[in-house]
Amino acid sequence: MERKEFLSILGVGAAAVACGYCFGGCNPNTGGGITAPTNVDFTLDLTNPAYAGLKSVGNYVYNAGVIVAHAQGGYVAVSLACPHQGATVVFDASTNSFFCPAHGSRFSLSGAVITGPAGSPLGSYKTTLTGTSLRVFS
Ligand code: FES
Repeated sequence: MERKEFLSILGVGAAAVACGYCFGGCNPNTGGGITAPTNVDFTLDLTNPAYAGLKSVGNYVYNAGVIVAHAQGGYVAVSLACPHQGATVVFDASTNSFFCPAHGSRFSLSGAVITGPAGSPLGSYKTTLTGTSLRVFS
């Protein structure tokens, strides 16, 4: 195989991968089959170094399929898997909302879709703080 032929094939392959990523990654479907955890009930000890960061507004942790954030206004908890295609969402302190870095979906503190492509909300859970114990439950 000559160099020119090899580069030609490589170029077509790279273009196909790029298009596949875009068409697959930008698919506006809701990613059926992605379900939020049910029967959630756990408690985070905020004196534990793994969760101590939650004492500060803007920080968040993951536990048992849930993202727990210290938002402006208090603690919030939603399912961590984006309903679009299952990527892990993050908490965006600058907008006080949840964001999916995979394709840009944004969710309110209650998990409602603000911006797609996600077509369904994140699961939402209750939180109560007693001393340094943060309970997250359905
Ligand atoms: S996985 Fe596509 S927007 Fe979250």
